[in-house]
Amino acid sequence: MQIITEPGLMQATIEKLRLNRQRIGVVMTMGALHEGHLSLIEQARSMSGTVILTIFVNPKQFGPDEDFHRYPRPFEQDAAHARAAGVDYLFVPSVESMYPEGFQTSVHAGAVAEGFEGARRPGHFNGVATIVAKLLQITKPHAAVFGEKDAQQLAVIRSMVRDLNIDVEIVSAPVVREKSGLAVSSRNIYLSGEQRESASALFRGIRYAGDELEKQRTDLAAIAEEIKGMIAEEPELLTDYVAFVEETSFMPTETAEPGKRYRLLLAVYAGNVRLIDNSLFTI
Ligand code: PAF
Repeated sequence: MQIITEPGLMQATIEKLRLNRQRIGVVMTMGALHEGHLSLIEQARSMSGTVILTIFVNPKQFGPDEDFHRYPRPFEQDAAHARAAGVDYLFVPSVESMYPEGFQTSVHAGAVAEGFEGARRPGHFNGVATIVAKLLQITKPHAAVFGEKDAQQLAVIRSMVRDLNIDVEIVSAPVVREKSGLAVSSRNIYLSGEQRESASALFRGIRYAGDELEKQRTDLAAIAEEIKGMIAEEPELLTDYVAFVEETSFMPTETAEPGKRYRLLLAVYAGNVRLIDNSLFTI
């Protein structure tokens, strides 16, 4: 595995690979690699001859009160995981090389970025869209794999790629879960034992939604309220939102129409830790 820190060198390396007709897959991360990231790498490996993993803790997607400085950066461990997972190139640029003095252009994600995580974290998705656009320019992949865990991020990236005619296939990989059903996330390390136990209520909510929709219910708003009630019984959790949205636009939806796909979104606080989860349902 080759480690590259300079954007220019990464671009030149990719240029050569592309001339040699290598199919390139990229997985973008902020490091602190866990099982979820490894499943993205596996997915990229299954569809590409060369796999690039990027690790960059992107300051532009953190709000002023968020955990940019506290965000874990276990580089040696990440590099070992990447090597073992069969990554060919590890791209780890510095903040200065990605945002040099005079940097002033950004991508404005549209309406899809406004609600839910976008409303709670102003500017977050513009920061994500900007860095993803830059990393796509630098790594020029045929395919880029993103996790469904961050479903709104995935929707923002899909709409950016479509709107800006970026020539890449965006591939989504399913949420990886712990035994309890808790979605694997870098932030899970901050959870106490009790919080972790309570957090499995999110997955119970998702299963409940699946069961109710199988009964042909279409009253999505009512199902969401019932899930909120289930979460409220957990002493360690405080609900931020539970809602169904239309799959691509992320517009909140109260009543389902047959044949359409809706995503159930859940966000809670366990103490200071924000947990999100989601699942896609076809009605
Ligand atoms: O999902 C993440 O880890 C980040 O938001 C991403 C896509 C790597 C952009 O910084």
